[in-house]
This record gives sequence, structure tokens and C-alpha cells, in this order.
Amino acid sequence: MSENTPKGERVKPRDRQYVETREQLKQEVAKTGHSWDGIEEYDNPMPRWWLWTFYVTIIWAIGYMILFPAWPLVKEATPGLLGYSTRANVDSEIQRFEAANEVWFQRLNETELTAILDDDELQRFAVNAGNSVFAAHCSQCHGAGAAGVQAAGYPNLLNDAWLWGGTIEDIHQTIAFGIRNEDYDNARHSQMPAFGEQGILDDEEIEQVVQFVRQMSGQDHDADLADPGAEIYAAQCAACHADDGSGMTALGAPALNDAIWLYGGDVESLRESVRYSRYGVMPGFHDRLREAEIRAVATYVHQLGGGQ
Ligand code: HEC
Ligand code: HEC
Repeated sequence: MSENTPKGERVKPRDRQYVETREQLKQEVAKTGHSWDGIEEYDNPMPRWWLWTFYVTIIWAIGYMILFPAWPLVKEATPGLLGYSTRANVDSEIQRFEAANEVWFQRLNETELTAILDDDELQRFAVNAGNSVFAAHCSQCHGAGAAGVQAAGYPNLLNDAWLWGGTIEDIHQTIAFGIRNEDYDNARHSQMPAFGEQGILDDEEIEQVVQFVRQMSGQDHDADLADPGAEIYAAQCAACHADDGSGMTALGAPALNDAIWLYGGDVESLRESVRYSRYGVMPGFHDRLREAEIRAVATYVHQLGGGQ
């Protein structure tokens, strides 16, 4: 490196000529007169391209302020000559979508429930619309993926075990009027007695019938208790849960002979169900959603996997 190479710059010896020319140039450039500990400030003019870009941005900004909303006033910003507003844009977009959807909602309303399933196009629309209705109105209880919450009594809607029936008409009815609510006379209704609390069965009998339910559902059980439990079951439970434990959708009585549980199949949960009963409540949506939306979400639930 040569002696007069500016600090920090790498200059090969054969470039010395260039460096010297630069040094000369620097000397000719005017200085501002500012000096800090001997470091002086050159008064170089801005490159022309830079200046012009700068002027263009100023002109652009002025034009923008005139045409678009810019200055915040007390209530809202100056509107701008073009009358552009993102909010109005969103509104008109929403209106455009709603108008497009309206045709489909109309068709949903006019089509027989079962016929919706035969119309591919309409079904596709219903499933999409139903999916968003589900996210907004059902997922808080049934889970975002509709898998339900066991122990809390929120049924899984993905399987083919149905409390109240899995045809599209059944599902529609359940959603429109709900289950055991006070709001609708048409709400689905039934009540399992609280066998312990009401003194229909004593503690020993409850243990027996619980062990029989364990046996019926193919789980570990105490056979000595399950035997007398079978008789209690036939007398007290079969009317709703069926002789073989397969349940009864007319009464919303779940199957007890499979591995799917609403509240749990362990001894403790079974005891709780028999002693106090459960009384699961679901609100109805007849007055909260439009009929077309109820149909859409019914179609959505129906195609989740367990529709009959
Ligand atoms: C506040 C909680 C809650 C909300 C919200 C709710 N559900 Fe339910 N849902 C329940 C409960 C609890 C049950 C089971 C009641 C029972 O034990 O019979 C149920 C049962 C059902 C059933 C019957 C399942 C079967 O096996 O027969 C369907 C279908 C259903 N819900 C769909 C929906 C849809 C669709 C929505 C949204 C529009 C919805 N639910 C909103 C709590 C809710
Ligand atoms: C009047 C009809 C009825 C009778 C009688 C009845 N049940 Fe039920 N049972 C139901 C209904 C309806 C449910 C759904 C839960 C609820 O919301 O109450 C249910 C739920 C259950 C559950 C919870 C199942 C789960 O998936 O978690 C068990 C266990 C059960 N019953 C056992 C029995 C036994 C044992 C008897 C007899 C001692 C009996 N039930 C008698 C209607 C009945």
C-alpha cells in the first residue's frame, strides 16, 4: 500500500496515478468552512439524479394529498378529489359478495333438504358457507374441527354415532330448535332420571348397573356385579338405551355398547351419569340465523363424515 493511499481504501501501486488525480480534485472542491479537529466539510453539490428524484417525490406528495385522503381533521381526514376510501371499498366488496351469495342462499331455501345433497354445485356452496357459520356459532362448543369436547358433553360431529339422528333432516331440526332449551317448544327433549339422586337405585345397584355398562361396552368389569346389573339395566335403562345398548335417537339416548362417550366410559363418569343424569343443553338457532344459513351448516355437518 502506498503512503498517500487514503485510510481504509485499498489501492494497488499501479493505481497511484488515479489516487493522485483524486487528491487533486478534492483540493479544488469548495469547503463549507466547518472544521472539527482539523476534519473539514466539503461543499459538494448533490448528484443531479438525486436532486431530480427528490423534486419528483415532492410533486408526487402534493398530487397525492390533493387526490387522496391525507390531512387528519377533527372527525375524519380530508376526502381527496378522487373520493377514495378503503372503508367504502370494503363495503362495496362485501355488497358484491353478498349479492353473488344471495342467489345461492335463495336456491338453498327453495331446495328440499335431501335434494341439496344431490346437487353438487349447491352442496359445495352450502358446505363453504356452512363452514363459516360453524366457525362463528358452533365451534365454541363443538370445537373448531367439530370433534367435540368429551366429559363436557359436547358431542363429536365427525363420527357416525348420533344422539338425535344423522340424516340431514335430523341435523337440521337439531340445529334449528336445539336440545332441552327453554326457548323453543320444538326443541328436542328427553330426560334420563337421576337414578341416585331421586332414590330409584341405591348405591349398590348403581355399582352393579355401572359394571354391566362396562361389560356391554367391552371394558374391564367385575362380573359378579355386572350379572345383577343386567337385570337392573333391563328394567330401568333398556327403554331408552335399547336392549342391546345401541341407544335410541328418538330420545337422544346414546349407545352404551361402543367406545364413544359423551361424558366418559370410566367407572367414575358412569357412576356420575347414572346417579345425577346429565341433561345436555344446546341452544336453537331458528331466530339467530337465517334459514339458509341453518341449511348450509346442516349440510356442512352432514358431510363431515357421519351423515346418514
Ligand atoms: C352452547 C353450546 C353449543 C352450541 C353453541 C352449539 N351446540 Fe350443538 N350441541 C351442544 C350439546 C351440549 C349437544 C348435545 C346435547 C345432548 O346431550 O343431547 C349438542 C348436539 C348437537 C348435535 C346433535 C349431535 C347428535 O349426535 O345427534 C348437532 C348436530 C349439533 N349439536 C350441531 C350444532 C351446530 C351446527 C351448532 C352451531 C350452529 C351448534 N351445535 C352449536 C352444545 C352446543
Ligand atoms: C328416559 C330415558 C333414559 C333412561 C330410562 C336412561 N337413560 Fe341414560 N341417557 C339418556 C339420555 C337422553 C342421555 C344423554 C345424556 C343427557 O343429556 O342426559 C343418557 C346418557 C347416559 C349415559 C352417558 C353416556 C355417555 O356417552 O357419556 C349413561 C352412562 C347412561 N345414560 C346410562 C344409563 C343407565 C345405566 C340407565 C339405567 C339405570 C339409563 N341410562 C337410563 C336417557 C335415558
